[in-house]
Amino acid sequence: MTQRLLRGRLLTFHREPESGEDSGAYTYLEDGALLIQDGIIQNAGPFAEISVKAGEVPVTDHRPHLMMAGFIDTHIHFPQVQVIASWGAQLLDWLNNYTFPEETRFASDEHSALMARAFFDQLVTHGTTTAVAYCSVHRTSADAFFTEATRRNMRMLGGKVLMDRNAPEGLQDTPQSGYDDTNALIADWHAKGRNGYVITPRFAITSTPEQMAMAQALAREHPDCHIQTHLSENKDEIAFTKQLYPQARDYLDVYQSYGLLGQKTLLGHSIHLESREIDALAETGAHPVFCPTSNLFLGSGLFDHGGLRARGIANGIATDVGAGTSYSMLQTLNEGYKILQLQGLALHPLQAFHWATHGNACVLGLEDKIGNLDPGTEADVVILNARSTPAMALRMDRVGSLAEELFVLQMMGDDRAIEEVYVSGSPSKSTSDRSALAHLALDLT
Ligand code: GUN
Ligand code: ZN
Repeated sequence: MTQRLLRGRLLTFHREPESGEDSGAYTYLEDGALLIQDGIIQNAGPFAEISVKAGEVPVTDHRPHLMMAGFIDTHIHFPQVQVIASWGAQLLDWLNNYTFPEETRFASDEHSALMARAFFDQLVTHGTTTAVAYCSVHRTSADAFFTEATRRNMRMLGGKVLMDRNAPEGLQDTPQSGYDDTNALIADWHAKGRNGYVITPRFAITSTPEQMAMAQALAREHPDCHIQTHLSENKDEIAFTKQLYPQARDYLDVYQSYGLLGQKTLLGHSIHLESREIDALAETGAHPVFCPTSNLFLGSGLFDHGGLRARGIANGIATDVGAGTSYSMLQTLNEGYKILQLQGLALHPLQAFHWATHGNACVLGLEDKIGNLDPGTEADVVILNARSTPAMALRMDRVGSLAEELFVLQMMGDDRAIEEVYVSGSPSKSTSDRSALAHLALDLT
């Protein structure tokens, strides 16, 4: 049995704050403590109380930093670690010119394993303890992804993309091989340790109707798996989709008609929606996922968070690396804030930090496991330092409230603001930093 006590300023959310004044939505303790045992939070509360109850347990004192649940990224592409920051294109050209050629390299076990280590290092150093990832079309990429997740004992979700057309030959499966590989991967990895398999038809453009029917069969046979795909990111993408599926009422109807919409469905982007599509989202409980840095980078458009929330739709928020330009959920919230400002909505920092933790956990239906610091949940914790750069320290000298501090972290913070990360109760940021350096050394020799 391993036990440790973390001490610091503790912030955890119980529900989405209705406003900045909604203090019932969260708990904030100036001198808080988490008692962790075997990867699970045993107790949380004021340090004075928890430490007396805990008795003789090693204490790590993180004061004056802030302890929160680890960040959750609900949409990211593992094989795009070497695509991020590719210049000059919008969605379809960006996929054809940069992304697809890079993803063909994941046919190699060795490349997949090396990139998986680098990818997980990036997640951890940026404070992300759970991500929902697209792997490449190759089974080997998903094997590498889950092997690394298992090695680190991280709660990770992912799946190999199903794609059988409109992509280079080395990047296509067939309806049958995609079905068989997905089934094999589910048998090997789903619900093993902290892993979750996600059935992943990449998007309508790269799947034939035959493959969509296979995705429907997979979804029926594995109702406890999540489903992820892309929806209405770009106007040319929408026009092409309507050409390929002329019988569909709209883009979302492609997925709906194959029975792919439900509370476990994540729909990346969901920007240019028609009113019937919004009705269908509200009815089925499927979740749009807002990817702010990506939407700005590819010039895709402005996600209507306010409009969708008003319809009761629960949206995820995510980086979408490699169209997204940062692994940091802080930077993701920064750009998200600006996109909502362009639509006359000022996202409160308490709502923003709720979104990247408990909010995303609720979108995934995993709020009993991750996204908060309640006893009984998994001990994935991030330690945030709002004075991590000289510019932030200068600004912090004039900060007088928790909300202001959170906003400084959101607008100015990145991986430097992540002081430490606990994954299943083990300190992991320092080890990731070391292994990231090892990769560099490897490349230079
Ligand atoms: N649509 C289909 N595939 C992708 C992808 O890899 N990235 C983004 N941003 N959109 C997509
Ligand atoms: Zn994506």
